[in-house]
Amino acid sequence: MAARILDGKKLAETVRAEVREGVAAFKAKYGRAPGLEVVLVGDDPASQVYTRNKEKASNEVGMQGRLHVLPASTPEDEVLALVERLNADDNVDGILVQLPLPKSINEQRVLDAVDPAKDVDGFHPVNAGLLAAGRPRLVPCTPLGCMRLLALAEVPLKGARAVVVGRSNIVGKPVAQLLLAEHATVTIAHSRTKDLAAVCREADVLVAAVGKAELVRGDFVKPGAVVIDVGINRVDAGNGKTKLVGDVAYAEAAEIASAITPVPGGVGPMTIAYLLQNTLTAAHARAA
Ligand code: GUN
Repeated sequence: MAARILDGKKLAETVRAEVREGVAAFKAKYGRAPGLEVVLVGDDPASQVYTRNKEKASNEVGMQGRLHVLPASTPEDEVLALVERLNADDNVDGILVQLPLPKSINEQRVLDAVDPAKDVDGFHPVNAGLLAAGRPRLVPCTPLGCMRLLALAEVPLKGARAVVVGRSNIVGKPVAQLLLAEHATVTIAHSRTKDLAAVCREADVLVAAVGKAELVRGDFVKPGAVVIDVGINRVDAGNGKTKLVGDVAYAEAAEIASAITPVPGGVGPMTIAYLLQNTLTAAHARAA
């Protein structure tokens, strides 16, 4: 039987509507809108699209969203000075520095400079540490989106076997922590895992976040498993054009899984929705 398609676009609309209501309540209580500042350094075309979408989405839910675009030649000290200025601004609740940064800039140094209370990406080591310690504060957006999609799938996580393919700080590690917090038995697999297919076939919940187009094939999927595909890979479509595919061979996996996220329209839209939610969360924590 074909899998149920977990519609991230539609679910993201629901989350945005929740945030919109929350923003209205925040404004009524504190007399100001939550503020999100997005910083883009350089002219990477994909990053330009992502950051414009983030600014637009924040304004659509009633936040004070602003995009700062700096040239690729900007010295690291100037980027750090902007982050410091935003840290010190009381009307700013969330700061997001779009990655990747130009090679001349030390990414870790810039991310570490963001006030952890305004770190709506959840990338600061303080927030990563709190999540690992089971005391989550600001949690990375994509993993939060994955968990909400699993809630939509109504898959019982307690005692379930979860396999996360990918060990990045942005997705793999934090999503594994969130699954663990829900009492799943979690394995983190990656590109060096021996017999990856056999490991994946153990999974009731399979999260693919490895950044390799269609690495996870149909025969990696246990019948009835729920598959969350975090990958966004641009590949040759064979007709002189390109197309987006996930880390999962969708057509094959959809034959075997009970539920699966499409690419595009699965996890992607959820990331921005949870960026908005994180900004509201940060605003409340700062205003309290
Ligand atoms: N680049 C690609 N995804 C992300 C993200 O979630 N946050 C930031 N800051 N940069 C990214």
